[in-house]
Amino acid sequence: MTDMDNKRYGHFNDAQREYVITDPQTPWPWINYLGNEDFFSLISNTAGGYSFYKDAKFRRITRYRYNDVPMDNNGRYFYIKDGDTVWNPGWKPCRTPLDSYECRHGMNYTRITGSKLGVVASVLFFVPLHTAAEVQMLSLENRSQETKHLKIFSFEEWCLWNAATDMENFQRNFSTGEVEIEQQTSTIYHKTEYRERRNHYAFYHVNTPIQGFDTDRESFVGLYNEYSAPQVVVEGKPRNSVAHGWSPVASHYIEVELKPGEKRDLIFLLGYIENEQDKKWESKKVINKEKAHALMDRFATREQVDQAFDKLREYWDRLLDIFVVDSGNDKLDRMVNIWNQYQCMVTFCMSRSASFFESGIGRGMGFRDSNQDLVGFVHQIPERARQRILDIAATQFPDGGCYHQYQPLTKRGNNDIGGGFNDDPCWLIFGTVAYIKETGDFSILDEPVTFDNQPGSEVSLLEHLKVSFNHVINNLGPHRLPLIGRADWNDCLNLNCFSMDPDESFQTTENKSEGSKAESLMIAGLFVVTGRDYVSLCRHLGHNDEADRAQKAVDDMVQAVEKSGWDGKWYLRAYDFFGHKIGSDENEEGKIFIESQGWCTMAAIGKEKGYPERALDSVKERMECEHGIVLNNPAFTTYHVEMGEISSYPEGYKENAGIFCHNNPWVIIGETVAGRGDDAWRHYTKILPSYVEEKYQTLHKVEPYVNCQMVAGKDAACPGEGKNSWLTGTAAWMWYTVSEFILGIQPDYEGLRIDPCLPSTAKEYTVKRRFRGALYHIHVVNPDGHQKGVKRISLDGKAVSGNLVPWSEGEHKVEVVM
Ligand code: BGC
Ligand code: NOJ
Repeated sequence: MTDMDNKRYGHFNDAQREYVITDPQTPWPWINYLGNEDFFSLISNTAGGYSFYKDAKFRRITRYRYNDVPMDNNGRYFYIKDGDTVWNPGWKPCRTPLDSYECRHGMNYTRITGSKLGVVASVLFFVPLHTAAEVQMLSLENRSQETKHLKIFSFEEWCLWNAATDMENFQRNFSTGEVEIEQQTSTIYHKTEYRERRNHYAFYHVNTPIQGFDTDRESFVGLYNEYSAPQVVVEGKPRNSVAHGWSPVASHYIEVELKPGEKRDLIFLLGYIENEQDKKWESKKVINKEKAHALMDRFATREQVDQAFDKLREYWDRLLDIFVVDSGNDKLDRMVNIWNQYQCMVTFCMSRSASFFESGIGRGMGFRDSNQDLVGFVHQIPERARQRILDIAATQFPDGGCYHQYQPLTKRGNNDIGGGFNDDPCWLIFGTVAYIKETGDFSILDEPVTFDNQPGSEVSLLEHLKVSFNHVINNLGPHRLPLIGRADWNDCLNLNCFSMDPDESFQTTENKSEGSKAESLMIAGLFVVTGRDYVSLCRHLGHNDEADRAQKAVDDMVQAVEKSGWDGKWYLRAYDFFGHKIGSDENEEGKIFIESQGWCTMAAIGKEKGYPERALDSVKERMECEHGIVLNNPAFTTYHVEMGEISSYPEGYKENAGIFCHNNPWVIIGETVAGRGDDAWRHYTKILPSYVEEKYQTLHKVEPYVNCQMVAGKDAACPGEGKNSWLTGTAAWMWYTVSEFILGIQPDYEGLRIDPCLPSTAKEYTVKRRFRGALYHIHVVNPDGHQKGVKRISLDGKAVSGNLVPWSEGEHKVEVVM
């Protein structure tokens, strides 16, 4: 590696909780998310991205161009014309070399600052709490010796609401666009389709008089110009165009005079409004703007914006004060205290819908994804976790199977993808138990919840857990192992698909499962772990018969794995349609897979026989590489029709031997269950963003402050290259792993269980943990360099027997000696 290979583009600022990007030409757009309730924006380090309300497909507010050339087109752009020089604070789209550039991505806000010819322009972007709008405060400062006469052009391009049809139905789209312009408030309204069934419109406003505007893209940009040189900006004169069809945009034109040393703030607001059916219009064809005006009034002054921004910062201060570690290792602390928790909030809000790798028009909320995401945010926003569980459970079928996805806007199961993923039901137990352990709120189990959203079908949530549990034992194969169905966690291990038609989707094509013997060892391990959770929940509720019944089923599964799931040095992955082994030494390719090693070691199956340690050693020997643990080994080099999509990927990518970060934590937890802290730590830090950031910013490519879904594995052309950043279950799993299994602070029904598993070099750390209204200051010391095992614990000076610190109100001191 040369120095150039490790060029640095930015650094962490922990005190501000920011990542500071110092070069606009990052190896890939490095983005951030604004908003955490209903109004969301994606924003890159050059101000690219888009906004939507609740649903990235159906309520897209601004337009984005995916996979474009150059990369990352469309965003909120400010063109500053100073004499003949035109530049943007975020460098793009003009790409005029700047005298200085900085982008600070913080907790739901981004600040981009550029300077040129003595003018500093800094834009603060954020979505205020409980507000359906993005604030963009452009602060200008003249640091030169002369008076500046600047021409400012703002720019946004509207999306015609449905982001999918917006990209394809041009015969209609080019005739529907409508806008209104309100000169006296400097506001451009986007009202396409408002005349018919829509009750919503959007607006783009600035808090100062404008000297012109444009709303028609062709007039503003010019048909054969690019965003880097829109004709209006080049000419320095707006055309006051009014869009009729084609592509409506919004651009304000403002002349700003700045004396030497003078500063000025311009507050732009991109807002979304819904009106009641009978209050849609002010007069014929004129939209009712009452709510829009009220919204503008809330952000009319710098003081108001500062206040709203402070509120947002306080909100994050509160959220990030629930779990705070001080380990003396900055790289660990910044991930645990800031970025990992932040990413969990983003995956909670977005699921897998909108990122620079997910177009926002495809997938809805995943059943398994959302349950797993929950362990990442339940400590921060338990009320929203509660609602999420109830929404998810309502998409289950009476037999315990589930819709694989549901739409966030309607909360209905998604028919296009349907069900049949046989791991799905287990995750409902996983999510619900995590919620109860965090909150102590058993009442959720009594909530009536429908099946498939059908009124009248309500049963208690506890009953939903029961049918989830039963779904596995009602669908066992010839080895008494769980049938895989369409697929388990690995969407691409399609054992019943046999697809030879390139025009059909592996994910949705009809399965040929009639007579199938395809069984999954991953579901087996998952069932043992979540099944034990179900047993202890039932015991807790005093439902001992049910607990006994469930325990028996779990024991049977353990036996089935020991009997038919052990390959000699590791756990098998599956049996295929015909009953042949997958993930066995007998196979030529795909001899070993990560998922079953992870789940079966978490469940410690075959412990007396030494299976878990042997399997974990095999992982080290065969699947660990410099950048993490690959999914399978050896990679598949040809298409296997009996395995489907997994073998469709070139070697080293995605589910074919990529480092699928999501499942690395399963092995890490398996290591902690086996008490091997050094191994757990090594695996953990290989994919911990702060460690990767230090060494591989260029190679890794994607944002260095969050995990990505996949890093190219050792068999790939470019091992270590990351893809699909942000929206991945990795976030929640990294959090769960470090908080509960490495630092070892585990919420349990009666209190906090303390069970760290550390590298032998770790000497001490503290964790401040707010838990059900109480506050615990936990101090762990490890004088003898152990990896696992708590010697003694004291609570407020009194010895505790065992490692459960019982919950009680107030503030407590916990001393732990390993
Ligand atoms: C990807 C999976 C994904 C699935 C469903 C596949 O092509 O490899 O990671 O879960 O599609 O969208
Ligand atoms: C991404 C999906 O969101 C997740 O549910 C799945 O388990 C992984 N892909 C692995 O295929």
